[in-house]
Amino acid sequence: MNYRFAGRMGRAPESFLEELFRVSAVPGVISFAGGLPGSAYIDVEGIREAAREVFADEGRAALQYTTTDGYLPLREFIADRYRRRLGLPATPEEIQIVNGSQQCLDLVAKIFLDSGDAVGMERPGYLGAIEAFSLYEPVVHSVPLEEDGPDLAAFASLIRDHAPKFFYGIPNSQNPSGTTYSEGKRRAVAEVLEGTDTVFYEDDAFGELFFDGKPRPPVKRYLPEQTVISGSFSKIVAPGMRIGWIYAPAPILREFNVAKQAADLHSNFLCQVILHRYLSTHDLDAHVARVAAVYGANCRLMCDLLNDLMPPGTTHTNPEGGMFMTATLPDGISSMEVFSEGVKEGVAVLPGVPFYADGGGEDTIRLNFSAAGEEEIAEGIHRLARVVRRLA
Ligand SMILES: Cc1ncc(COP(=O)(O)O)c(C=O)c1O
Repeated sequence: MNYRFAGRMGRAPESFLEELFRVSAVPGVISFAGGLPGSAYIDVEGIREAAREVFADEGRAALQYTTTDGYLPLREFIADRYRRRLGLPATPEEIQIVNGSQQCLDLVAKIFLDSGDAVGMERPGYLGAIEAFSLYEPVVHSVPLEEDGPDLAAFASLIRDHAPKFFYGIPNSQNPSGTTYSEGKRRAVAEVLEGTDTVFYEDDAFGELFFDGKPRPPVKRYLPEQTVISGSFSKIVAPGMRIGWIYAPAPILREFNVAKQAADLHSNFLCQVILHRYLSTHDLDAHVARVAAVYGANCRLMCDLLNDLMPPGTTHTNPEGGMFMTATLPDGISSMEVFSEGVKEGVAVLPGVPFYADGGGEDTIRLNFSAAGEEEIAEGIHRLARVVRRLA
């Protein structure tokens, strides 16, 4: 039969990820291509203990339906953490639990975007956001990301000329570049947006993972009524729980709640209760500090090896946190070729192309430094350097 799918499915960008996961799973391939947090730093024992307690004490309630906004004690925990860590006056009423912060990308796009609407984002930008937004058929305008945040002149003209419904940015340790906005650029972005009808969508998937342990001020601090923040326990507790949240002004949250209820009624309640039990009985700060220290060491190692081994003309970003960096290849070397030749040599990297919503990135690769250990990083970068030298 002829399956008559909606036109938007045909217009969605082709997903590169399936191919990637297939290749990365081949035995012997060292993969810097994926985006997994280090499995060794998931506290399986602690989560098992929390789950055991929940089943013993409140299993029947935790296995019931609940409200769309999510488990109140968990929302209180999140709001309290915003107040303590970032000095934001968050209340649990301003927070809703979602099925991983990826769901925020879908639902924020769903409540704001009609086909043909303008949306702004960074170039390069998070692939998962490009994919999520594209299903609502916006016109995506991107602003070049510099070492310290977006190119401000380009940002200001985008907002002025196209009045996007929202601008999506990742100020902390961006995926794919690892770039962090300077404090000056955070203020400047807020100043440009103030008085316009463009919302700032601040994706904070990595804000807890600064290697120096110091939080950076969110853009929301300078633009409270116009900023939506999304956050996630994926990178700091366990991605398989699929627990994230949105922190947004009341009018946005009302619409979001309608869309969330229609999509799935509520996020997995059992996981919310277990996660809250885990967080109340374990020291999250100490856990996050341990994880950030390991990622910091991995990142430094990867930067040093790239500096020592890659041919002249290779450059890379220098992340202050998070899980990713971007390397730019010497002139004339294609990232797709590095990808296919790399797999033959036993190393997988992610070509930059899918991170460019409006074209580009042929000479860049994204490298993940959270999933592999130090030995694998050393061997993997040696393999990568051999491939790039051969192609140079
Ligand atoms: C920038 C960014 N936002 C959102 C997500 C989605 O993560 P999750 O749905 O697990 O919270 C990711 C995942 O890697 C990400 O890198």
